[in-house]
Amino acid sequence: MTTVKSDAGRVLVVGGFGAVGATVTAALEDWSPGRAVPAGRSRGVPVDVTDPGGLGRALDGLGDVAAVVLCVEPPDEGAARACVERGVHLVDVNATPRLLDGVAALHDRAVRTGATAVLSVGLAPGLTNLLAARAHEEVGGADRIDLTVLLGTGERHGADAVRWTVRSLAAPPGGARPARFALPGHGTRTAHPFPFSDQYTLRAGLGVPDVTTRLCLDSRALTAALFGARRAGLGRAARHARVRRVLTAALGAVHPGGDGFAVRADAWRGGRHAAHALTGSAQSRVTGLVAAHAVRTALSGALPPGVHHIEGLPALAGLPETLAGEGALALHRPEV
Ligand SMILES: NC(=O)c1ccc[n+]([C@@H]2O[C@H](COP(=O)([O-])OP(=O)(O)OC[C@H]3O[C@@H](n4cnc5c(N)ncnc54)[C@H](OP(=O)(O)O)[C@@H]3O)[C@@H](O)[C@H]2O)c1
Repeated sequence: MTTVKSDAGRVLVVGGFGAVGATVTAALEDWSPGRAVPAGRSRGVPVDVTDPGGLGRALDGLGDVAAVVLCVEPPDEGAARACVERGVHLVDVNATPRLLDGVAALHDRAVRTGATAVLSVGLAPGLTNLLAARAHEEVGGADRIDLTVLLGTGERHGADAVRWTVRSLAAPPGGARPARFALPGHGTRTAHPFPFSDQYTLRAGLGVPDVTTRLCLDSRALTAALFGARRAGLGRAARHARVRRVLTAALGAVHPGGDGFAVRADAWRGGRHAAHALTGSAQSRVTGLVAAHAVRTALSGALPPGVHHIEGLPALAGLPETLAGEGALALHRPEV
């Protein structure tokens, strides 16, 4: 099947009732009533991404889907393949490097079918990639990039996102060290290396050998407790399913912090240093807005066919300003 679907078709939002997906569905509904079709296991069009062939059958059944927004983590690149083979555009908010590499390998196939797949969509990866690309360009090609992400402990993060965070805590932390950066509105904070996918894909995408993403929480005490526990062996313990279940329940509960987030990108080359930052609240909502804008741009025909990380698409480079204009975030130039 290599037919390119009409760009006037509908948009299937898989995970369309989740913390991220509900924003995508609402934004698309606002821009183009009737166009968004939410899907999931328990509500909307029935789709289970763990069922091989499940998304393909749903696309064939609906018949007029021009784009899919994937707002849940699938087990492999099968869901992306179902889109690409049918010439259906894809916007994917996943943050797991292995999965993103699997989708990136579908590039030639997507070029042949005319499908565009946008990867690294959201806050981190996503807006971090765009800020990193700006700082990289300003120093004339960085040899090192540091990304810092602060998340609010008061936000009710979606179950799928919490599962991802707990699994990432279990991953070996690698060789990078904690670092301190000033984050607008949050003071100077110690952030700890964390396996967000942006640092891996940006190394190849921008050709920068040394990229590290670090995480801290709005609460200094919770940050110290969480990463202190990781050093003390919580990470290894979290490789066991039972410990992961307990941690997932603990992190999923609503905590007394706020729902504000901040991200900062620093690029370095010799003595040159450039930094960009942004702040906002409700990271799930902002991730959904990034995804909604990405799919709208894909449907407008402004993106080339193939699989692309967001920083490789000039038509999406102005998204931080677009979202700032909509009041979803604020942009900052930290002192360097
Ligand atoms: N790039 C970024 O910055 C960023 C930021 C936040 C989140 N994320 C990613 O976004 C994803 C969603 O996060 P979230 O916070 O929205 O999670 P969430 O609130 O748990 O939403 C997940 C949604 O997917 C559906 N779902 C779960 N398993 C499914 C399956 N096997 N097949 C089809 N649908 C399924 C759920 O509905 P049913 O239970 O009815 O199926 C639910 O509507 C996560 O993978 C997270 O890592 C990325």
